[in-house]
Amino acid sequence: MSGLVALPVSVAALAASTLVAPGPAEAAPHVSGAVAARHPAAHPLVIAHRGASGYRPEHTLAAYQLAIDMGADYIEPDLVSTRDHVLVARHENEISGTTDVATRPEFADRRRTKVVDGVSIAGWFTEDFTLAELKRLRAKERIPDLRRHNTLYDGRYQVPTLQEVIDLARRAGTQRHRTVGVYPETKHPTYFRSIGLPLEEPLVRTLRRNGLAHRRAPVFVQSFEVGNLRRLNRMIDVPLVQLVDATGAPYDLRAAGDPRTYADLVTRRGLAGISRYADGVGPAKAWIVPRDAAGRLLAPTSLVRDAHAAGLLVHTWTFRNENTFLPLDFRRGTDPAAYGDAFAEYELFFSLGVDGVFSDQADTAVAARGERAGSRVAVGQAVGAPG
Ligand code: G3P
Ligand code: CA
Repeated sequence: MSGLVALPVSVAALAASTLVAPGPAEAAPHVSGAVAARHPAAHPLVIAHRGASGYRPEHTLAAYQLAIDMGADYIEPDLVSTRDHVLVARHENEISGTTDVATRPEFADRRRTKVVDGVSIAGWFTEDFTLAELKRLRAKERIPDLRRHNTLYDGRYQVPTLQEVIDLARRAGTQRHRTVGVYPETKHPTYFRSIGLPLEEPLVRTLRRNGLAHRRAPVFVQSFEVGNLRRLNRMIDVPLVQLVDATGAPYDLRAAGDPRTYADLVTRRGLAGISRYADGVGPAKAWIVPRDAAGRLLAPTSLVRDAHAAGLLVHTWTFRNENTFLPLDFRRGTDPAAYGDAFAEYELFFSLGVDGVFSDQADTAVAARGERAGSRVAVGQAVGAPG
């Protein structure tokens, strides 16, 4: 990928390194002091992507609860705004793909066509509903053909607020005597500011109200845009993560006529720029291990090493067990919904030194991390054993 240096390491060799202790050349885990203090045993972090979205409709309290039960370190709510300016957890502000809104006669006249981030979209939008109205809807599985089991839970859960997600994390953490972090993402921040419903102010207010507005709080705030992270960096002292999409450019830069793309952000110069306002970078996996046109893995890039050299954590996305999402190298059989060798993919990225993984199946990520830690202990014991 442009701007990055391909490392002279074969992917096959990296993938085959499962259960092998790291050699002296392997990058040491890069964990900021604050993160290490909060999660002494958790590296890389397991971030439950939209909750346990591999097993429950995404962005529901049931999905977040299950992810915590599975051992996730952080739960991830994507955030959009309601008409009365309450932050709720949805991946898009258009909600027909993840709720039953289209089947509700009382909301038929709310259907609109809008331009969001330069794209025309038809449907039902959170900013046209009060929180009370949104609460009448029920969540449904986004990809029912692939995740049929999850449709069992369609119609059972509400759209949660950010406050409800924080409450759940705190309650579950207290019950389990461990920290459960929250990893909110601001979705379409330029768009929401343009319609008078900015995301940053209510986000900061909510974090402050919950005692989470400080450096050591178990919180990362993430965004695909640059400008709102810079704004947040001036407003609040929590760790920030610059997301880097696989293609294209941050919408706020594009809207301002700034020619920089995501590829520019992950050059060494771009990473140095990010380190001035953020603590980490959240690249799509392909920026770390690209794939060819057929979906086969290519040699890893230097991104993890470059980001660490710039003082940035690396939290990459998205890990999913199903064949259709895995590289060709790790698929098993031809059923797109069947599980492939997800462990091999985790091991590959762990071996490259990432600091966190966003996963739809937190249990698999936790197990993969545990196997790696276990193999280190086992090899260490063997080496240390008297001959
Ligand atoms: O936030 C990390 C990852 O979730 C970004 O992708 O589209 O799933 O929000 P998306
Ligand atoms: Ca996200």
